[in-house]
Amino acid sequence: MTDRRPRIVVGLTGGIASYKVVGVIRELVRRGADVTVVPSESSREFVGRSTLEAISRNPVHYSLFDDVAQVRHVALGKNADAVLVAPATANTLSALAEGRADSLLLTTVLASSAPLIVAAAMHTEMWEHAATRDNVATLTDRGAIFIGPTAGELTGGDVGLGRLADESDIVDAVWSAIHPKDLAGMTVLITAGGTREPIDPVRFVGNRSTGHMGVACAIVARDRGATVTLIGAHLEVARPAGIVNVSVSTAAEMHAAVLDRIAGCDVFLSVAAVSDFHVVNASSQKIKKSDGVPELLLAENPDILRDVVAAASGAFVVGFAAETDDENFATLAATKAIAKGADLLVANVVGESKGFGSVPTSTLVLNNAGSVIDTVNGSKMAVASRIFDLVSRQKVNTP
Ligand code: CTP
Repeated sequence: MTDRRPRIVVGLTGGIASYKVVGVIRELVRRGADVTVVPSESSREFVGRSTLEAISRNPVHYSLFDDVAQVRHVALGKNADAVLVAPATANTLSALAEGRADSLLLTTVLASSAPLIVAAAMHTEMWEHAATRDNVATLTDRGAIFIGPTAGELTGGDVGLGRLADESDIVDAVWSAIHPKDLAGMTVLITAGGTREPIDPVRFVGNRSTGHMGVACAIVARDRGATVTLIGAHLEVARPAGIVNVSVSTAAEMHAAVLDRIAGCDVFLSVAAVSDFHVVNASSQKIKKSDGVPELLLAENPDILRDVVAAASGAFVVGFAAETDDENFATLAATKAIAKGADLLVANVVGESKGFGSVPTSTLVLNNAGSVIDTVNGSKMAVASRIFDLVSRQKVNTP
């Protein structure tokens, strides 16, 4: 499944919380999923077709009788990697538990053997009613994964259990359901972002790294069961929940943070763009224009990746390489792979409009002899998934 986009069916039912599911769909698409929304008739009262089509980037059908020849529900259900029903109303839970098949949504669920994730939302009394409890128990026995409801303010101003779970928790539940837990028990340390070296209290020497690649690696490792620590420098992307987040600024701080934590780690990914130099004569006060053009004295920073390799801690080490010379890219990548000595080096070309941020990337994966063992193109999440496929394979072969 890692070579193609995960296919997720979102069964949207008619509850007040339907509008929040739009955010869930958007995040699933952003993570690289191919999302098809199957709305119930009553959901139209809350969210329209155009919104769902625009956000999911797929056509939306309501009826079993659209394109009958295509037997849409069977194809959708059979091909899905996960089915999410959200917000699942009391009525939908009852229909799911009963195994009813009188709508496109219900028939799609019945035609699917993929994990079923149910994000319920309703009034507290309905959630706690014996009939709903029975339906939840029946569905849980059949393997459905319930996410929420949570406690909080409900429609009409009541407070209690029944709110749709947080969007990010629903996304995480779906994502976890479709990813293997092949990294369970592993401890993964990742650096991300770009370090900054102060010139004075307001200026620094830095780089254009945003942290998207490192954060994608952290999310993939977490979703596949690893215990993850992310050492981030100046990330321009939200830090993922469910991992240990450490913030640093300079290369020296990142170096210390990594070496403090490397013992006992199974995997180290050096994704950060680390400044190679720091300013020795940094000023403690803002340098004034009137002082004239400053002469900066630079000294080399420690190479974190090389020091981790030299420490031979037993961790499986993955380096990343950013090159700007398109023509000599393969040769430069091979030379760097040998020089760094990491188990794997993931190399890509960067530039003004290439490589940085949430853009798709195109990479070579090399071993420490400088040979290309894989090429990966796609979103940063797709590249991160492939890297962990390789890590997982190697860790299993060399326990
Ligand atoms: N790296 C590091 N410490 C440094 C510099 C780089 O750990 N002081 C790591 C990066 O995290 C990355 C790898 O080394 O995994 C390659 O980084 P890159 O910037 O491509 O190469 P450099 O080693 O800095 O070499 P050059 O600038 O000459 O290309």
